[in-house]
Amino acid sequence: MSPDRQTAPDFDEIIDRRGTNCSKWDMMEPVYGVSPDEGLAMWVADMDFRPPACVQHAVEEMAAHGVYGYAASDAAQREAIGWWMDRRHGWRPDPGDIFTTHGLVNATGLCVDAFTEPGEGVVLFTPVYHAFARVIRAAGRQVVECPLALDEGRYVPDFEAWDAMMTGRERMMILCSPQNPGGRVWSRAELEGWAEFARRHDLILVSDEIHCDLTMPGVTHTAMTRIDSVADRLLMLTATTKTFNIAGAHIGNVIVSDPKLKARFAARMGALGLSPNSFGLAMATAAMSPDGVEWLEALRRYLDGNRRLFEAGVAAIPGLKPMPLESTYLEWVDFSGTGMTREEVLARIESEAKIAVNHGTSFGLGGESFQRFNIATPRARVAEAVARLKSAFADLQ
Ligand SMILES: Cc1ncc(COP(=O)(O)O)c(C=O)c1O
Repeated sequence: MSPDRQTAPDFDEIIDRRGTNCSKWDMMEPVYGVSPDEGLAMWVADMDFRPPACVQHAVEEMAAHGVYGYAASDAAQREAIGWWMDRRHGWRPDPGDIFTTHGLVNATGLCVDAFTEPGEGVVLFTPVYHAFARVIRAAGRQVVECPLALDEGRYVPDFEAWDAMMTGRERMMILCSPQNPGGRVWSRAELEGWAEFARRHDLILVSDEIHCDLTMPGVTHTAMTRIDSVADRLLMLTATTKTFNIAGAHIGNVIVSDPKLKARFAARMGALGLSPNSFGLAMATAAMSPDGVEWLEALRRYLDGNRRLFEAGVAAIPGLKPMPLESTYLEWVDFSGTGMTREEVLARIESEAKIAVNHGTSFGLGGESFQRFNIATPRARVAEAVARLKSAFADLQ
């Protein structure tokens, strides 16, 4: 049954997702050996919540009509993106600069394909979202890992060290902004630093901003398009799928205003025969609306409550240190203070606490002592996770 348009979202509701061909719950046993019947799924980055009612209504309308032919165009979605970006992020893209892709992993692959050659380097600032490296390597390009520095427990750029690592074989950099897994929202000065880095080394700058709407209350994200003198090398990636929990719709956007980059990207899209899926278009367009805004504000408050509960609970366990979350719903916890091997930490999390988490090593250099916990789940489950971790690491108290 679809939720009523007037009803406030109930993020506390436990929705059983088991047996729905859902990656997060139905793959935790094969991947981690943690049974979904007694375990907690805190890995894959989707939420255990329904999307806003306006999205559900859009799907129901299509289902009620019952004819599933080709979509006419993505123009309504591109208009909605203009409205959304203007309202939420203080800039309005030209609808003609927006391409609709099959999600952002697909968009990353398209950018790598369109703007680099096999063997060339693509720079990542690690630890970072694991699919970037996977796609780059699968395309036969080189992953160049530039480790982020730590300043008082938060990630910061280290341009001097990275300058010394460049060889001239690098063609592209991919920035995750806000950052997954560290949860940083980069400052304007840091973004200007990255834009200068791209210029200094003549790199195409891909800015993945999929988490830009999921900032904690009071934190402001700056879109890379608002940074001066970068438009001639910038491809910005955005999506509604993280914000509204519709990742299965597999829809995202590449926004590019430079005419030469745009023509090259359009040519690759055309050569691959890509066009959007009509369900994804309907869901994304419906989400970027006043109803969607209202739902998102409620979600941000809820996630902030989960964040406080999780960070306070985990920080109280000797040896565990969560990174303060500025955006995303992904908590990045350092276990180095336990003095345990990675295997022992994981055995306690997976076999004792029965929690499925993303292993820090999958995010590249710098992730070795960390594990990533997804807290976008009803608060009772977050409290349960904290209690289980306390018990699994009880001998350290
Ligand atoms: C930074 C980042 N980019 C892209 C994605 C996935 O994008 P999509 O589902 O549109 O392929 C994720 C998912 O967690 C992500 O964190």
